[in-house]
Formats: sequence, C-alpha cells, structure tokens
Amino acid sequence: MIENPSELAKLISHGVYVIGVSDGARQNAFTAAWVMQVSFDPFLLAISINPEHYSYQLLKAGGICTVNVLGRDQYSIAEHFGRSIKDKMAGFDWRTASTGAPVLSCGLAYFDCRVSHYADAGDHRIAVCEVLAGATLHAGQPLLYNQTGDLDGSGEFYKT
Ligand SMILES: Cc1cc2nc3c(=O)[nH]c(=O)nc-3n(C[C@H](O)[C@H](O)[C@H](O)COP(=O)(O)O)c2cc1C
Repeated sequence: MIENPSELAKLISHGVYVIGVSDGARQNAFTAAWVMQVSFDPFLLAISINPEHYSYQLLKAGGICTVNVLGRDQYSIAEHFGRSIKDKMAGFDWRTASTGAPVLSCGLAYFDCRVSHYADAGDHRIAVCEVLAGATLHAGQPLLYNQTGDLDGSGEFYKT
C-alpha cells in the first residue's frame, strides 16, 4: 500500500517550469514540474509530458522547446500555464530562442532545447531534450513543486 501518494510524491524535489513549445506556426506553453537533467555530455533534460496536452501536439510536430525556470514569487504564473485555456500566452512578454521556441522573459532562466527522443512512461511520455543554448535572465530563488500545494490537482490521479 502507498500511503497518501500525492503528499508522498511531493517529497521528491522538483522545480516548477514553463515549457514553451512551437510547431513552427503555433506556439503554446504549459507548467511542468517533472523536469530533470539526465546527462552532462551531451547536456540533456528530460521532460515528462501528458500526451493528451495540446502542447504535446506542438512539441511532437516541432521537436523544439524551452524550459523556463520560475522564481519563488511566480506561483501565479505556474497557475496560469497549468490551465488549458485559449490564448494562454497573451499578456506575457516572450522572446524567441534560436530554435524558434518561445522564451518567457520574466523567468529566472531558460534552456533552449531540441527533442532527441521519446520514451513511454505510463500515462506520460518522456521527451529527452538536448540543451542547445540557455541563459540566466533574473536573479532569484526557484519555485519548488512542494510549494505549489495541490495546484496540479495531482491528488485525484493516483490509482493505488
Ligand atoms: C505545478 C504543476 C506542475 C505540473 N507538471 C506537469 C508535468 O510535469 N507534466 C505535464 O504533462 N503536465 C504538468 N502539469 C499540468 C499542465 O500544466 C496542464 O495540464 C496544462 O493545462 C497543459 O497545458 P496545455 O493543455 O495548454 O498543453 C502541471 C501543472 C501544475 C500546476
């Protein structure tokens, strides 16, 4: 038996990120906590994404993304991009990374990535991404997943 799986899972430390995606014509962005570095050379990040997200279609088609690091005071941005709403990117300032993926200007830092390959992971897919560029944009401490409470509504997803 796994006791209280959603609280237990929050003890695995994650940051909170906005993943910017583009298929060349359309752009979108979504909040993700399941992001980690998985290699030094090449420099690889793994992003676990629900294939039912609209963003997944764009990621799959475009093969590029940015990982934008949110700061401790950017909970409301995590909340905003954690919703599936129309014109989600409006009202924020964006730059374009060299891959063509959108960079969130107010983030602490960004990584500009190209998808290397995918792996299946239960109800998610893992996009293993090569980091081609990146920079720190603002000083600050990162927002942590366990500071977001039940913002992702994950409590209802565990079938144990
Ligand atoms: C704090 C937080 C963390 C999240 N982490 C992930 C994640 O790691 N992977 C994922 O696929 N969705 C994650 N989500 C859910 C997506 O952000 C959410 O379903 C979003 O609406 C998807 O956007 P889209 O439908 O516009 O693509 C998270 C949401 C929140 C609030």
